Amino acid sequence: MSFKNFKDKIEENDTVMLYLSPQSIHVIKVMPKIVTRKGNEVENIFQTVYGALKVMDLVGMSYGAKVNLTKGYGYILQPTPELWTVTLPHRTQVLYTPDISMVLLQLDIRPGCIVVESGTGSGSLSHALIRAIAPDGKLHTYEFHEQRAKIASEEFKEHGFEDLVVVHNQNVCEAGFGLENVADSVFLDLPSPWLAINHALTSLKSNGRICSFSPCMEQVQKTCIELEKLRFLEITIIECLEREFQVKNISVADSELFSFDNDSVNNSLKSFRGFTTPLKMPGHTGYLTFATAPMKSSLSQEIEVVNGS
Ligand SMILES: C[S@@+](CC[C@H](N)C(=O)[O-])C[C@H]1O[C@@H](n2cnc3c(N)ncnc32)[C@H](O)[C@@H]1O
Repeated sequence: MSFKNFKDKIEENDTVMLYLSPQSIHVIKVMPKIVTRKGNEVENIFQTVYGALKVMDLVGMSYGAKVNLTKGYGYILQPTPELWTVTLPHRTQVLYTPDISMVLLQLDIRPGCIVVESGTGSGSLSHALIRAIAPDGKLHTYEFHEQRAKIASEEFKEHGFEDLVVVHNQNVCEAGFGLENVADSVFLDLPSPWLAINHALTSLKSNGRICSFSPCMEQVQKTCIELEKLRFLEITIIECLEREFQVKNISVADSELFSFDNDSVNNSLKSFRGFTTPLKMPGHTGYLTFATAPMKSSLSQEIEVVNGS
């Protein structure tokens, strides 16, 4: 299985998505046995609110097919970075699709790009970055937590991304990225991003783009001060607040019009096709601070002038 390429039929060892509803999507590994918490190896049967699924029955089925569960049904979908973001095992806070799409756009991430990211965390953003730089780009992702770096590395391999990503287990605030003038863009999701900005500048090409994601305005302020000190240009802060309108059949049964005088409402008006605003809206996630790296040649001339040479 690969997140990179779509295929028709499900095979053993594929990672698949079981879709029950927009709020209920599950990731399943197609393998005959699983190990229970008590360490026993048992047949791989996946339990859902609509009953059980014998996982090996999926082998040979087409992706997109409807699958019967003991008390209902679901659909088996190909894995994508978007579905991975909502199903992945959380080891940390993660970036979600509205922020991810803004990052991809603002950092101008395209096939062939060299991208630097830290921290890797749960790999939510990494999956979207890797798909965007394929087939010949490279993601260098840095994580100082050894276990997280190891698990992310294993997941990338399992998802067929081994040629597109290098996981570095290091503290970027102390050791930097070990790259010079090669990165098209740098993305930071760190508690103290301002400590990594000078290292990011070293890694970036002239005019490369940087983004720092921070939940708190105090982090943004310190980051902007450092960006300005290092002569970054076009500093912009964006907060993505998503408001999704749902297109659906709206019943007028509950409306005031209908309850006021049942008889006067034409039956054909009891339900109509329309759209509604969401009952719940996701709120603040974080601020995205973007900037453009200065031309390296003009930066070194400026430093020479300051030093009087
Ligand atoms: C919020 S998580 C990143 C989540 C990630 N963006 C995602 O979408 O899954 C932040 C990660 O940065 C790592 N981290 C914090 N400081 C670091 C540093 N100085 N160097 C490398 N990694 C660091 C943490 O261990 C943590 O896993």
